[in-house]
Amino acid sequence: MADPEEAVLILDFGSQYAQLIARRVRELKVFSKIVPHTISPEDIIREAPKGIILSGGPASVWAPGAPAPNPHLFDLPQPILGICYGMQLMGRMLGGGVSKAAHREFGKAQVVVDDPDSLFDGLPREMTSWMSHGDYVTKLPPGFKAIAHTENTPIAAMADPAARRFGLQFHPEVVHTRRGTEILRNFLYKVCRCGGDWSAGRFIETSVDEIRKSVQESRVVLGLSGGVDSSVTALLVHRAVGKQLIPIFVDTGLLRKGEREEVVKTFKGHFRMPLKVVAAEGRFLKALKGVVDPEEKRKRIGRLFIACFEEEARKVKGAAFLAQGTLYPDVIESHSPFGGPSATIKTHHNVGGLPKRMRFKLVEPLRFLFKDEVRQIGRKLGLPEGILNRHPFPGPGLAIRILGSVTRERLDLLREADHRFIEELRGSGWYSKVWQAFAVLLPVRSVGVMGDERTYENVAALRAVVSTDGMTADWARLPADLIERVSNRIVNEVRGINRVVVDVTSKPPGTIEWE
Ligand code: XMP
Repeated sequence: MADPEEAVLILDFGSQYAQLIARRVRELKVFSKIVPHTISPEDIIREAPKGIILSGGPASVWAPGAPAPNPHLFDLPQPILGICYGMQLMGRMLGGGVSKAAHREFGKAQVVVDDPDSLFDGLPREMTSWMSHGDYVTKLPPGFKAIAHTENTPIAAMADPAARRFGLQFHPEVVHTRRGTEILRNFLYKVCRCGGDWSAGRFIETSVDEIRKSVQESRVVLGLSGGVDSSVTALLVHRAVGKQLIPIFVDTGLLRKGEREEVVKTFKGHFRMPLKVVAAEGRFLKALKGVVDPEEKRKRIGRLFIACFEEEARKVKGAAFLAQGTLYPDVIESHSPFGGPSATIKTHHNVGGLPKRMRFKLVEPLRFLFKDEVRQIGRKLGLPEGILNRHPFPGPGLAIRILGSVTRERLDLLREADHRFIEELRGSGWYSKVWQAFAVLLPVRSVGVMGDERTYENVAALRAVVSTDGMTADWARLPADLIERVSNRIVNEVRGINRVVVDVTSKPPGTIEWE
């Protein structure tokens, strides 16, 4: 949905690199789309891209079964830029020579430009670049010339300007390659002649148009969680079809303090959406009664969530569409030949299981976006900062932050403790510096003294981590005086908790959540 007219295709030979290139290209205001390296030339012709980038990848072009594109790719008229593995593929497939280096070259290298035209236009003769390769092009394919070298790599970049084919042995997409963005800009604007029409505003216009066209008079249901992705999806679909969108918010009773109120205030109050709230706390508590095993908790919550959503969605007459906040990394991960481990993290609890059973057609306006782009669009659509910059919150909610069995009383205790922690983080400016922070209620009691009285109460743990994607994480070094304030407030203000401890485990070997 919402493909802009102008796009560059990135053929994926190793997902990490491909994603980074896609980001850089979009930062340069050109829409980019990652496609499997096996894409057929016919499909490329259908996509009509302005240019094609072959990504780097972990394999050696000489490894058995090394990923390679359809050879007719090189018959297409579009400009092609091969990066690292992509360049070696060009070397090999276009009749040059590629050899294994005696030593893997890894790290910074000085690139010396031999031909300042096209790719290196306007750039200095020497620049720092990032290399990471075992193979290299030793003989130019016919029609090509070397346009840069390093001390160890005679052909660090090559070009066939007439055919608009280019290869870079180093990685322009990583920050260590100082002028990398400018090299990519030259490829996009000077070689591919892109116009640069990709922006949040433009995205909103085109996707609103597309949603209108596909939805027409039908109604659309959406599971609104109050997180960024479903909130931005709601705003976009609402802008397109107004009250035909019926967002459904399931209050599981496992939410943080004030969460339901905030969602109602924002979407029903401020944005005037016909929001349906399913008050299901009782059902969830019943389903969780006496359940201690973390996986069992997750399963029961997942199943019940779907049931609650389905029941409500069935009541919406004329609903033919289900809108979902699927993001690009989820889409790529499910297609990528190298698929990332994060896919498994998210299977627990997503509305993703719904469409097959309910025969809805899907509306996924964010399926080509990265998280930071979703935030930009949300901001442009007027989503309050409080929701835009919210920490991730797991589907099973507080149930997996209460170790042992989940009861209303324990939920209330945790909500109060967590609320104070978050308040202090916000007040001190630390909230936005950490990836995620929350309190956990432990299944132990410890002795304390309040005034002159002995207490025997619960223990809360504070968990705060820094991370870029939630896949790995380090415990956040919060200032001691901040931790002290949080601890004092929790012990003094939350009756039933008399001790606070801090979790200092990284991921791996720990996970971010406790269950
Ligand atoms: P872990 O605990 O596996 O969490 O280190 C990594 C990230 O994923 C979030 N998380 C979930 N998100 N449904 C979700 O939508 C879930 O079931 C779930 N479990 C964990 C977690 O909060 C962290 O950001």
